[in-house]
Amino acid sequence: MRQFESRIDTGSSEFEKNAAAYADLLATLRDRQQFAISGGAGRERSIERHHSRGKILPRERIDLVCDADTPFLELSTLAGWDMYDNSAPGAGIVTGIGVVHGVPWMFIANDATVKGGSLLPISIKKHVRAQDIAAENGLGVIYLVDSGGAFLPLQDDIFPDKDHFGGSFYRQARLSAQGLPQVSVVLGGCTAGGAYVPALSDEVIMVSGIGRIYLGGPPIVKAALGEIIEPDDLGGAALHTRISGVSDYMAPDERSAYGKLRELCAAANQRAVDHRENWLSWTEPGSPHFDPDEIYGVISADDRIGFDAREIVARLVDGSRYGEFKPEWGEHITCGFARIWGFQVGIIANNGIIFSSDALKATHFIELCEQRRVPLLFLQNTTGYMVGSDSEAAGIAKHGAKMVSAVANATVPRYTVLIGGSYGAGNYGMCGRGFNPRFLFAWPNSRIATMSAETAQTVLVDIRLAGMRGTETTEEEIAAMRAEVADQYERQSDPYYATARLWDDGLIDPADTRDTLGLCLALAARQDAPAPGSGIVYRM
Ligand code: COA
Repeated sequence: MRQFESRIDTGSSEFEKNAAAYADLLATLRDRQQFAISGGAGRERSIERHHSRGKILPRERIDLVCDADTPFLELSTLAGWDMYDNSAPGAGIVTGIGVVHGVPWMFIANDATVKGGSLLPISIKKHVRAQDIAAENGLGVIYLVDSGGAFLPLQDDIFPDKDHFGGSFYRQARLSAQGLPQVSVVLGGCTAGGAYVPALSDEVIMVSGIGRIYLGGPPIVKAALGEIIEPDDLGGAALHTRISGVSDYMAPDERSAYGKLRELCAAANQRAVDHRENWLSWTEPGSPHFDPDEIYGVISADDRIGFDAREIVARLVDGSRYGEFKPEWGEHITCGFARIWGFQVGIIANNGIIFSSDALKATHFIELCEQRRVPLLFLQNTTGYMVGSDSEAAGIAKHGAKMVSAVANATVPRYTVLIGGSYGAGNYGMCGRGFNPRFLFAWPNSRIATMSAETAQTVLVDIRLAGMRGTETTEEEIAAMRAEVADQYERQSDPYYATARLWDDGLIDPADTRDTLGLCLALAARQDAPAPGSGIVYRM
């Protein structure tokens, strides 16, 4: 594979202007992440109260469990951003993948400093998403439970539906049966729904003094039975470890509990990460020839000006070596083989609008990756499939559908990163959320919507005017309609709007993308090879 030849002039004023604009985007990202970790109204008081009970914050808890000097891939840090009046930073739950005794585990840790660790609708979505990632990537789950269960004022959006609380218990039971250990450490008052997380776990550790499990807390017991009882007598560590048997181990404090947890993980007989012996082609990795930090200067500060996706690929892959497939055909999509942290991947990246030839090239390339068992990486930056009479006559609908079908039916691991626009059916053909990529990350410059705000204001206002036939409409009224639509589309296509609702697994710094993808690929490498696809390669 040849090393890519960049056309970017890193000394140009354009490059500097772009990089400066990206620095602002990253500053906003860091600020908002910090808000999720420790911000929010009254949070300082909650954190103080948490500490005064001798309790540790969720990210520090995870740190104490994981092997020293290993990475932790936190997911959806900004879930819940700007929702519920911003009263649920991080959705009150921390999820992510960490390494214990060389084995990757999914962590689901409640944050009791946010609404007592109770779960809002978006928290349930984050909890369930973490379980789905665990199922697909073959990860055991560690639950650090410190939760008041369902957030009661919004119970109708949490309790009864398919992917609500019941769905999380359903998944927990099935993950366990799949041979993926479910282990809980109880660190707070786990009531009702919260009680079933440990109760459904394979093994449970309770921490004396702070851990409690009960289906109904003391106030409910008093109201229902007239029985007055202290929390620890009703559901403390001693009761559950020595009498009820709901818990298997009792720890005197949090730190001892994490020591015990590490011991349980070591005994769980799970596969460690090993790059050498697996189905996925791996060679000794090398850094990209072009610095990943240069991505900031490659992405135009003006999102109406495109950038060459190859320049991004060159800053993500080992040695910046990229074997491009059909480089002379289908100019708005680039496909090719490369390596990320030594793992071979097939990359499909947009350069704007998708034409028929681009869709066919991508379909052909997906077939090659299927036949050769190479994971697929989609880098989305598209305004969608080409419209217009020429394109329709050329059959864009059926060619786009071929690409969509190929993406949907690919059995190799698929990963998606939104590096720019993700509009229209381009989102689907490029393995958007609806196509279940194993992981989907987005950059802070990305946008996601059916169409851009600029297009939407024309389309929607035209539709509205057509429906108002015969009604007199002034220029000012039309301008106001356009502004209203543009405002709605700007707001809803914002990457923070998307990440808040878990349309992705997190917003990431472009310079961290290579490492993030390397971790994701390492997870796939430790699993058995995926079931073979059809292996048929049709020339398009
Ligand atoms: N729904 C909505 N809000 C909840 C909640 C729940 N299930 N559990 C806790 N909260 C809120 C509290 O109202 C409080 O809000 P505030 O800070 O705005 O006053 C905040 O979370 C902290 O709760 P607090 O009781 O002060 O904290 P604590 O650490 O002393 O106790 C719990 C934590 C979880 C043990 C306790 O709040 C509790 O038992 N909650 C009710 C649990 C329950 O019955 N759940 C049923 C689920 S089906």
